[in-house]
This record gives sequence, structure tokens and C-alpha cells, in this order.
Amino acid sequence: MDIFACKIKESHLDVDNDKLYKLISNLYSQHAGRSESNKGGWQSENIISELPSFVDKIKPVVKEYMDEIKLNIELDITQVWANINKYKDYNAQHFHLQSNFTGVYFVKGEKQTGNLLLHNPFTNFNYCWFNGKLVKIITPNQYNSQVVKIYPQPGKLIVFPSWLQHSVEPNLTNEERVSISFDIN
Ligand SMILES: [Fe+2]
Repeated sequence: MDIFACKIKESHLDVDNDKLYKLISNLYSQHAGRSESNKGGWQSENIISELPSFVDKIKPVVKEYMDEIKLNIELDITQVWANINKYKDYNAQHFHLQSNFTGVYFVKGEKQTGNLLLHNPFTNFNYCWFNGKLVKIITPNQYNSQVVKIYPQPGKLIVFPSWLQHSVEPNLTNEERVSISFDIN
């Protein structure tokens, strides 16, 4: 049997990414942004009221995810923010306090602009196995991996539990990596 599994939801949305990008670029030019996990990158304030049609598109995916894990609790999207990572920008490892689920939608940027890293949630796994060192696993799977990499791709949507530690690799290109994150509560 498998116990304490962690479900990651992946979906692809049919959204006008150019329109989203223009809206986010406009916000970027007008607001200084806030400092959270972003190292060098820009993060907006809560912009849920500016993206009603986008929020409507992610709602069914969230509902599907809730059905899959059988949580049987009505949850809604409570906060939405945009992120822009330019050359060398990254996001430090963190999780979202006082939130149930978290999602990220990729607006712009391909593989080399920085993978989303999902870190093994078993604290003692990283402490006990391999003496805390990163090792190369020949056949990675859900039982032996320290980290799971999800590459950015416009249109891709990822939802995961907010307690799951995650980070974003440095952007190694001169192309912007633009994403929209949200919390579900
Ligand atoms: Fe995050």
C-alpha cells in the first residue's frame, strides 16, 4: 500500500496568453511589487479582481482536483498574483502558510527560464537518506526522489498542497518567465 501520497494536478488551459502577458507587463510598469520568495524577480500584489475570466477557467480544474483527493470541502480561489523572473532571478524554497492548496499557471517562458521544483515533503527523508546530499537516482519515482522538476510551458497549470515546499530555478535565459500563482482556501 501507499500511504500519505501527495497529488499534483497538471492541466492545460486554453487562455489568451498574449493578453495575460500585456496585463501583467502593464502592472509591472506601474507597481514596485512585493518581496516574498522572489529573489530578484517581481511579484505583484493580489490581482484576483483584475482576472475574473482567468479565475473562472481555473475553477473547474480545482474542483476536479478536490474530487480526485476526496477532500469533500468547498474551497475557492482566494488570492492571485503574477510573477516575472528575468535573467538570474529565482524563487527560494518555501511553502504557503495559512493556505490549503496552491497553483501556478505558466504564461510565458520555456524550459531554460527556470523549472518549478517540488521538494520531497517527508522532512526525515532528506535528513536520513543519503546524509542530506543530493544524489543521482537511476530510476526516479515517487518513493525515491528528493525533488520533482516541472518545466514551464505556456498554458500549463499545476495545483499542489500548500504545505509542499517548492522553489524556482534561476532563469538562465534573457527571456522573461511569467507565471500566475494562486491560493485556494
Ligand atoms: Fe510559492
